[in-house]
Amino acid sequence: MTAVSDLYAARVAEGTLHADTAQEAALAEFDRIYEALSTPVKRGLFRKAPPPPRGVYLWGGVGRGKSMLMDLFVEALGDTVPVRRVHFHAFMQEIHAGMHEARAKGVADALAPVADAVIRSVKVLAFDEMQITDITDAMIVGRLFEALFAAGVVVVTTSNRVPDDLYKDGLNRQLFLPFIELIKERMRVWEMISPTDYRQNRLEGARVYFTPIGPAARGEIAAIWRDLTGGAGGPLILKVKGRDVELPAFRNGIGRASFYDLCGRMLGPGDYLAIAEAVKVLVLEDIPRLSRNNFNEAKRFVTLIDALYEARVRLICSAAAEPEMLYVEGEGTFEFERTASRLREMQDKDWGRA
Ligand SMILES: Nc1ncnc2c1ncn2[C@@H]1O[C@H](COP(=O)(O)OP(=O)(O)OP(=O)(O)O)[C@@H](O)[C@H]1O
Ligand SMILES: [Mg+2]
Repeated sequence: MTAVSDLYAARVAEGTLHADTAQEAALAEFDRIYEALSTPVKRGLFRKAPPPPRGVYLWGGVGRGKSMLMDLFVEALGDTVPVRRVHFHAFMQEIHAGMHEARAKGVADALAPVADAVIRSVKVLAFDEMQITDITDAMIVGRLFEALFAAGVVVVTTSNRVPDDLYKDGLNRQLFLPFIELIKERMRVWEMISPTDYRQNRLEGARVYFTPIGPAARGEIAAIWRDLTGGAGGPLILKVKGRDVELPAFRNGIGRASFYDLCGRMLGPGDYLAIAEAVKVLVLEDIPRLSRNNFNEAKRFVTLIDALYEARVRLICSAAAEPEMLYVEGEGTFEFERTASRLREMQDKDWGRA
C-alpha cells in the first residue's frame, strides 16, 4: 500500500499530473483516512476499537480534479480494505431496486435489509458526484447514511455543491435537513478552490467535431475518451418518469453514446434534459446526414442539442458533414439552422467554461 499523497507525487514526477496546491491540500484529507484505515487496530480486553475516521465531502467547481483524487484514494487502498467506488446516482438506483424487491417479499421496513447488504460488502464507499434532485432519494438518504455510519462505514464523496445546497428548493426539503447535518458531522466538508479546470485544459485547442465518419474519426474520439476517462466506464441508467434512459458508457461526468442510441429511440425532451443534467461532456458518435428520410431522428437531435446547449455541456462528436451541411434538404432545414449554429458555438474552446 502506498499513501495517497505518495501516489500523487509519483504521478507528478512521471508527468501525468501537474502539481496543484489545492489538490495537495485536499490530499491530506485522504491521507488521514487512509492512515486510519491502514493502521492495525490493537485489540485488548478493555480496549475499545477506535471510532472509524470521519469521511470527506470534497466539493468544488468542475474539472478541478476531485474525482481524480478520489480515484487515487481508492487505488491506494487497493485490495486491503473493501472499498467500492460508484456514481452516486447509480448507487441510489440500486438501493431503490433492492427496496422494491424487499417490498415485493412483504418486508415492512424495506430499507433495512438493503442497508445491511451494503454494510456487509464494504468498509469504504466512494461516491462520485453526489447530488440529490429526486424526492424519492431525498426521503431515504438520511436513514440510509445513518445506518452506514452506525456500522462504521467510511464515506467519501465528490460533489459540485456545498452540503447546504443539496436538494436545494426540493419538495419537502425540511425533511431532508437532518441529512445535511449528518454529513457535516460524519464527513469533513472540504472545498477545493483551484483556478484550474483541468478538463477544459485537456480539451483546449483539441478538435471536438470530427467529420467525416470513419476510422480516423473513430480513432480520434477513442483517444479523447481514453484521455478523459482512463478508458474505463460503464453504462449509466437514468430514471426519467419511471422509465430507464441509458447512456451506454459513463465515467467521471463524461457520457458516451452513438447518435442512434440517443436519437434513434423514442426519447423526448425530458429524457434529453436528464442526460444534459447528468453529464459535463457528451461524446456523441456517428451523426448521419439528416433529411426527411430520418425526420424523427433529426427532430430528436435538435431537441438533444438544445438541452445540451442550455446546460452548457461540452460536446465531442463525429458527423457525416460539417454542421451547416448536415441537414440541407426538406422540411425542418430552417429549424436546423439554429442547431447548426449551436453546434458551431459549442466547438469554441471556451464553451462550457465554468
Ligand atoms: N493536477 C492535474 N494534472 C493534470 N490533469 C489533471 C489534474 N487534475 C485533474 N486532471 C484531469 O482533469 C480532468 C478532470 O478532473 P476530474 O474529473 O477529477 O475533475 P472533477 O473535479 O471531478 O470535475 P467535476 O466536478 O466536473 O466532476 C480529468 O481528466 C483528470 O484526470
Ligand atoms: Mg468529478
